[in-house]
Amino acid sequence: MVVTTSRQATPEQERLARELAARLGLEFRQRRGAWRQLGASAALVVTRERLVIQSPAGEIFFHPGMARPRIRQLERGKPDVMVEAMDLGPKDSVLDCTLGLGADAIVASYVVGEAGRVVGLETVPVLAELVRRGFREHDPGHAGTRAAMRRIEVVTADFRDYLAQLPAGSFDVVYFDPMFRDPVMESASMRPWRELACHRPLSPEDIALARRVARRRVVVKERACSPVFEELGLSTVTGGRRSRVAYGAVPGLGTVSACRAGSEAGRASEHGAPGSREGARS
Ligand SMILES: C[S@@+](CC[C@H](N)C(=O)[O-])C[C@H]1O[C@@H](n2cnc3c(N)ncnc32)[C@H](O)[C@@H]1O
Repeated sequence: MVVTTSRQATPEQERLARELAARLGLEFRQRRGAWRQLGASAALVVTRERLVIQSPAGEIFFHPGMARPRIRQLERGKPDVMVEAMDLGPKDSVLDCTLGLGADAIVASYVVGEAGRVVGLETVPVLAELVRRGFREHDPGHAGTRAAMRRIEVVTADFRDYLAQLPAGSFDVVYFDPMFRDPVMESASMRPWRELACHRPLSPEDIALARRVARRRVVVKERACSPVFEELGLSTVTGGRRSRVAYGAVPGLGTVSACRAGSEAGRASEHGAPGSREGARS
């Protein structure tokens, strides 16, 4: 992959393209003609409006995807299956280990609000950069969604390395949405992403790493009825009745600090959940 600009670029576009190339350890190539004439397998293109990855499979640019309609549903008081699987509420902290295009992280950030925290990890540097910039600059035309996007912290990292160096109990929820073994549907728009993304499957060791870091629970999204839930020891599986995806959860093992425990108990009673919130679900 190389970094370039769109045709007839401004000096500012070229400056940004050179800066990104240096940061990502990629070569900058001056744009002349179509991107395919650059002689590279793919190109990160700085256009006037946004970053675009061009590849033979198609193009990728940041967009909030399903986050906007999901947030609209939440505003109407309708449930969101992921939010329910996480038992998420205001002030919570979420570590999204597989950020992707970030739709799930945006919904989580909207729910946890200003007093909460969402950190998103993406192991493919060019994808992380695309989404980091999208969160910062894209205008979704909705104040709550915009604020939710701006608050997310994007980290370029493999979740295994990142989880291993975190203190126990660092986040309320640790979340995984890995690339499915069998994609639900091979939409043309997702094909370029699938080609660049990391496909390594989750292992029981990954879940153990995540449980140490999670105070409340670890949540994994997978195809509905996937054997992965059982293989990873995720007992509590939730999903819409007609949904093609489901969420498996397992309690976190991280300890809740005294101060945090107070606010957790307060929130649990706000939700009307009796006793242990984990127990109430499983
Ligand atoms: C299915 S996508 C996530 C989609 C995301 N939940 C959303 O709402 O857009 C999975 C993403 O996780 C990334 N990924 C896979 N393994 C990873 C790892 N070990 N560490 C960090 N990111 C990883 C992939 O590169 C891919 O971009």
